[in-house]
Amino acid sequence: MPGQNVRTVPVEVLVIGSGGAGLRAAIAAHDAGAQVTVLGRTLQGKAHTVMAEGGINAALGDLDPEDSWIVHAADTLKEGEFLSHPEIAERLARDAPERLFELERWGAVFDRTPDGRIMQRPFGAHTYRRTCHVGDRTGLELVQTLLAQVRKRGIDIQEEIVITSLLTSGSGSGKRAIGATAVDLKTGEFYCYLARAVVLASGGYARVYKITSSPGENFGHGPAMAYRAGAELMDMEMVQFHPTGMTWPETAMGILVTEAVRGEGGVLKNSKGERFMTRYDAKRMELSARDIVARAIYTEVKEGRGTPRGAVYLDISHKPAPFIRKKLAKMVKMMQDFQGVDITKEPMEIAPTAHYAMGGIRVEPDTAMTSLSGLFATGEVASGVHGANRLGGNSLTDLVVFGNIAGKAAAEYAKAAPAAAPDRAEIDAEYSRITTSFGRKDGISPAVVQEEVRELMWQHAAIERSAAGLEEGLAKLQALAKRAMAVSGDLRFNPGWLDYLDAGNALVVCEAILRSALMRQESRGAHMRTDFPEMRKDWKRNIICVNRGRMLLKTRPLPEIGPEVRQWMQSRNMSLQ
Ligand code: FUM
Repeated sequence: MPGQNVRTVPVEVLVIGSGGAGLRAAIAAHDAGAQVTVLGRTLQGKAHTVMAEGGINAALGDLDPEDSWIVHAADTLKEGEFLSHPEIAERLARDAPERLFELERWGAVFDRTPDGRIMQRPFGAHTYRRTCHVGDRTGLELVQTLLAQVRKRGIDIQEEIVITSLLTSGSGSGKRAIGATAVDLKTGEFYCYLARAVVLASGGYARVYKITSSPGENFGHGPAMAYRAGAELMDMEMVQFHPTGMTWPETAMGILVTEAVRGEGGVLKNSKGERFMTRYDAKRMELSARDIVARAIYTEVKEGRGTPRGAVYLDISHKPAPFIRKKLAKMVKMMQDFQGVDITKEPMEIAPTAHYAMGGIRVEPDTAMTSLSGLFATGEVASGVHGANRLGGNSLTDLVVFGNIAGKAAAEYAKAAPAAAPDRAEIDAEYSRITTSFGRKDGISPAVVQEEVRELMWQHAAIERSAAGLEEGLAKLQALAKRAMAVSGDLRFNPGWLDYLDAGNALVVCEAILRSALMRQESRGAHMRTDFPEMRKDWKRNIICVNRGRMLLKTRPLPEIGPEVRQWMQSRNMSLQ
């Protein structure tokens, strides 16, 4: 709609997303001298970060003095099936203790040992106990701590602003990000934020699956916008299914039951009362890697040893009730409120839930800059940290370590970046794109598109995948993408219109997931192909998706693991593949 009224706002560093990664990036950019604006789609404090309940990893060695950043990095690489970028995984582990102590200085109150050290609980597939926590509400504590620091610094933080697209200028290798278009949901006004550097911290895409722990907005708008703007996506097929999600009532389906339940001693049993993990990982049992535990539960149910609700049991009731109430207060309340189940006395019924996107936008290890100059990405929207299977507790570490790196690097970049002039025609075209569905007579509801996308992804691209299933999923997706969508009302707090935006982004992200999953002809971590059940050495490569008018896929080799981590792994006769 040419001539549309656009409000232009110049900023130095624009941070998109007000979850943990965005807040940490904003603090770093501000402290590096930049003027920062943070835009969040929801109210402050409402972020997927809060769903990382059980803890944040840092090799403090408080409980196990043998722990070190080297072992933490080795665990991250090994359990990620060597698909993480080694420099990124090493940086994660190296910086973790410093970022953790910083959180503490800023007021985060971690649980302590009786003699005052930071308490560290065991989490799945970690060699040592290194998951620091605040009961079972660690993510919430982290967001609140970071928010307080953002407010203390007077950083501009706006809520209920939805970003519609990234803006770029130039072409070829001179192309760079110069801001974003947005709608203020409170007023319906259309904005152009003109920035010298942009940090995307908008979260992942687990919500494209029918059953998920991920909140309403995680349809992958970050990767979709970055892809449309020309940035590379990486390993989009790698989606983590958390082993333990709620299974009933319908309204609570998929909500996270924290790994801390198993960390504190909870056991998994099938409907025959068997502790079935003996069959899948007799050594680590319930604290095996997430992909292994999720597949074990899936297999038990598939082979008829699940409950009538298609679940298995998770039981911690053998532990003393006061201990459970202290360590798992949120779980106790959640199960009581939703199901009337007292977990100090009864088992829970759980099943896997799509929890976390390990794929996302490709970034450089030392700056978190994407392949599009001036665009930085951090947190769940970025890839490269977790490879094919994320260790529980590493997501919170990721967002404080790489939020800090991205914010600093964006501030540096912004200092040198010239001011860019917005292209009015591009902005008008964007306004037309986001309003084209209003008043259409022939379209279907975006909510229906979303529902069908989520159903087909669950059916064809969840825990078990095959070429036939993925191709069927892709065909269904392509048919859906051809359907026009219709929306009524206007841009103010309009759930139908938000569904429309989300559905459009989900279509892009799901195409990337399905195509990458088809391309990866092996099983690795969370990506399980029934037609290619083995992991293959020649597939130790990242898969890149790039926009060339159509979605183009290619592979990228991984660099060598650094000498300290390599030596440690070799000294334990661990395979480096
Ligand atoms: O189970 C959990 O508390 C989740 C933690 C995480 O995803 O890191």
